Amino acid sequence: MTAKAKSILVISPDVAVSDAIGSALGADPGIHVSAQTSTLAGMNGRAVKMMSDHDVILFQTDPDHEADFRAIGTLVAAKRAGTVLVALVDGNISLAQARALNNAGVDEVFPMPIVGAEFINMVSRFSRTSARNSASPAPSGKIIAVAQARGGVGSTTVAVNLADQLVGGQSRRKPDTRSGVALIDFDLQFGTVGSFLDLGEQDTLLQLALDRTIPDATFLEQSMVTMPNGLSVLAAPSKFAPLDSLRSDQVAAILDTLRKSHDYIVVDLPRALVGWIEPIVQRADELIIVTDISVASVRHCRRLIDFFTADNIALPVEIVVNHERRPFFQSSMHREAAKVLERKLDHWLPHDPRAASAAADRGKPLSIAAPRSSLGKAMSRLAATTKSGLQTSLQRPNK
Ligand SMILES: Nc1ncnc2c1ncn2[C@@H]1O[C@H](COP(=O)(O)OP(=O)(O)O)[C@@H](O)[C@H]1O
Ligand SMILES: [Mg+2]
Repeated sequence: MTAKAKSILVISPDVAVSDAIGSALGADPGIHVSAQTSTLAGMNGRAVKMMSDHDVILFQTDPDHEADFRAIGTLVAAKRAGTVLVALVDGNISLAQARALNNAGVDEVFPMPIVGAEFINMVSRFSRTSARNSASPAPSGKIIAVAQARGGVGSTTVAVNLADQLVGGQSRRKPDTRSGVALIDFDLQFGTVGSFLDLGEQDTLLQLALDRTIPDATFLEQSMVTMPNGLSVLAAPSKFAPLDSLRSDQVAAILDTLRKSHDYIVVDLPRALVGWIEPIVQRADELIIVTDISVASVRHCRRLIDFFTADNIALPVEIVVNHERRPFFQSSMHREAAKVLERKLDHWLPHDPRAASAAADRGKPLSIAAPRSSLGKAMSRLAATTKSGLQTSLQRPNK
């Protein structure tokens, strides 16, 4: 089944913006781009008429511009099912402003400047339904992305030990056989998965970033380290790689390839929300955000939730509160955090410096270094609930 070409209308007072979009999408024969040099309000209702001829309307807007906001309302009211409205906004707008646009009925809020790969990815999602229908059965591996609410809060600790526990802890497998679990350190510049597991230098991601090649199954199999319990690990490079040197299509290929051969792929995310994070966001089956309940962390958590769910509405987000034992009674601060995050605080990992440093000193997961510690046990509970949560969401419709 071949999808009909998608027709995209760009409305921007800035010719450079439409040109950038035209050249980002120009190479795709499945996409036809036309442009109007105007603000949305300046279109004086013509946008509504033109909307019926296009699948996607991209319009540049300043959320503080009242007339534009009214024009958005008119557009939303006249929109037919299947038309997608995308607001192109200054990358520095506040979360409240982005949310106001969503609440007004805008489907996507995309920050400028437009980064080619990220942008192409977003647009390509619009034709995904038809592409999926004709494709072979969807790959089954579950992608669990782990993010942090602040540096040092414990996201790598969670990613490493969750992956290890999803394998089933230690000694469940014969040495050197692969398990169904992969761990990828996408914290390209500051990744520490390699040192948590005492791995030698592994510069696969750097090589990809430099070569710009699309990795295939053989390449990944040869590049990933297999731990004694079978966990496959792709560590971050030991040498410096510019953050924007990876491309979205490379990241997408890594995930899609590993999904075919693994049941779970745990991803340690970079702190920066770089363009190539988009394919991870789109494919994630669950997002885990590791946080503490300081005001700053909770705020950042909220931003992460909004960022991730904007592109993946059905994405389950689990909050892991680190450095705190599950309280018998939640304090007003806990309740306030849960309210801001619109989620229950379901997972708690106790502050356990002894276990954490035993693991760090030995370069081993908690299941070896401190299996009976309170942190080790809490990690195995987290893996069990993650597993059962993902199993019950197996019937989730395709994203
Ligand atoms: N629950 C915990 N109790 C004590 N120390 C912890 C705990 N979780 C993480 N740590 C320690 O905190 C430090 C930072 O953790 P890490 O996972 O690297 O954070 P991040 O990846 O979020 O930057 C590490 O030394 C780790 O061992
Ligand atoms: Mg980390």
